[in-house]
Amino acid sequence: MSDPRLAVIERRFEKVGKVIAVSSGKGGVGKSMVATALALNLRDKGYKVGLLDLDFTSPATHVIMGVEGLYPEEDYGIIPPLAHDLRYMSITHYSLDEPAPLRGVDVSNAIIELLAITKWGELDYLVVDMPPGIGDATLDTIRLIPKIQFVVVSTPSRVAYQSVRRMLLLLRQLGIPVTGVVENMVMKPSDYVKSDVEALGLAYLGSVDFDEDIEASLGDVDALSETGFYKRIGEIFPSVI
Ligand SMILES: Nc1ncnc2c1ncn2[C@@H]1O[C@H](COP(=O)(O)OP(=O)(O)O)[C@@H](O)[C@H]1O
Ligand SMILES: [Mg+2]
Repeated sequence: MSDPRLAVIERRFEKVGKVIAVSSGKGGVGKSMVATALALNLRDKGYKVGLLDLDFTSPATHVIMGVEGLYPEEDYGIIPPLAHDLRYMSITHYSLDEPAPLRGVDVSNAIIELLAITKWGELDYLVVDMPPGIGDATLDTIRLIPKIQFVVVSTPSRVAYQSVRRMLLLLRQLGIPVTGVVENMVMKPSDYVKSDVEALGLAYLGSVDFDEDIEASLGDVDALSETGFYKRIGEIFPSVI
């Protein structure tokens, strides 16, 4: 017998327009920053937007947005609280700042549970901040969330890009739509990432400079929205998704 929660998950996404998974082969490349800035930029444009933090090991979107003490409302499921006008779901609503150590099958169960209980309602976009890599959590997300498309974040480093490249090849093998690649934290111009992404037949969405104002803006969305980083994300995205 199949898991009855799977049918529920499909219903939960019925009124969600597009699901954008911000992902990477690597950690520390800026997935959470890009996901949060993308969600907030879409909100600025007047869209109804949700943000789902699926990185259970290193949740970060709550730090970037400076939100704490949010409690979802229960109504035959869970209604994500509003954070800066985003419908916002994160494991930190439940675990607070305690670590959430989960093994493989428990990760799957936690993701299935979260997706089954969360009532997104009507959204134009749901942005998902993904855990790094192509492990269980990523494979589950691909399997469970309908109409998902991937934005893959790299840095200019060959170390980061090599694992990003493996992820791009996997996504292609699985037939998952890839919106394109964002090259983040660029400090000097180089063609390396762009030319390889294009050689794979994928879209290079653009580069984002290393921005030394970001650290001071953490926890303050108004300050974040004044950074060059935020404005650049606003330039790169809305036309491609
Ligand atoms: N373009 C950028 N310029 C400067 N710092 C950045 C930039 N993008 C991300 N960062 C910083 O790099 C660190 C890792 O970013 P984060 O979004 O948490 O990465 P990930 O989610 O991929 O692990 C954070 O301290 C973040 O503020
Ligand atoms: Mg992160």
